[in-house]
Amino acid sequence: MTAPKTPRQLDRFGLRPAADAGGAADPRPARQVDGWIPIRDLHARHRHRILDHLLELNEHDRYLRFGYRATTEQIQHYVASIDFKRDEVFGIFNSKLHLVAVAHLAAMPGKGPHGDGSSRGRAMEFGVSVLEAGRGRGLGLRLFMHAVTHARNQHAHHLMIHALSENAPMLKIAAKAGAVIERDGPDAEAWLKLPPDTVGTHLDSSLQSLGAELLYRVRYNAMHASDWLRMLVTPT
Ligand SMILES: CC(C)(COP(=O)(O)OP(=O)(O)OC[C@H]1O[C@@H](n2cnc3c(N)ncnc32)[C@H](O)[C@@H]1OP(=O)(O)O)[C@@H](O)C(=O)NCCC(=O)NCCS
Repeated sequence: MTAPKTPRQLDRFGLRPAADAGGAADPRPARQVDGWIPIRDLHARHRHRILDHLLELNEHDRYLRFGYRATTEQIQHYVASIDFKRDEVFGIFNSKLHLVAVAHLAAMPGKGPHGDGSSRGRAMEFGVSVLEAGRGRGLGLRLFMHAVTHARNQHAHHLMIHALSENAPMLKIAAKAGAVIERDGPDAEAWLKLPPDTVGTHLDSSLQSLGAELLYRVRYNAMHASDWLRMLVTPT
């Protein structure tokens, strides 16, 4: 097991690993992605890609992601209602530029960075999905850590994850970062207290965005350059 979970790396995000984040042992083999992962900022123009990604989730994954068995219409409504001015959405594309993971960092009404505060101060909610083929490689954790940095930069005091109690991978990710998990029957809320933003967190998110955007453009151009070449050399 490598990269994303060492205490030093969690510390880089201003978080201390929980003393016991593990819970039940996970017998599955480790296939963690090492090194930097390009996490791209998604905007309103990416709504159709976000929708395609979410529609690829099977019924059970939709249940875990939304807390109910979301229909196509409900997912369409969710994607159409994302407020890209208030919230942040991130994605991970594979080498074929297919969107394999999406995270939504949303300001919580009444508690969010633009809300009026609560006993927990300003809070943002984190929601995520990784396509089945990409799971167990640390992408969910990376997106979570990325969201932590962005929430700190938005001056949020807490990051909240609403998950089903049965959602072991999601709760494990939250617990690893030191979140306090409150269970209420089938539902669970994980609350992570955030340290304030620093010059480092702002620099980190700017460099990350720039790097991911550049890599996407390079891959996009490379992909299309080979299409153009094929068109040029294929006799009509
Ligand atoms: C939750 C989800 C995003 C995790 O994505 P992922 O990329 O597989 O997550 P990671 O690889 O970063 O880490 C998952 C952790 O859970 C562990 N895990 C996975 N399945 C598990 C299981 N059945 N029981 C216990 N732990 C499990 C993994 O081993 C890993 O821990 P480790 O790093 O100690 O090995 C993904 O499963 C998903 O998209 N699920 C459907 C949507 C959803 O549930 N969203 C969350 C609600 S907002």
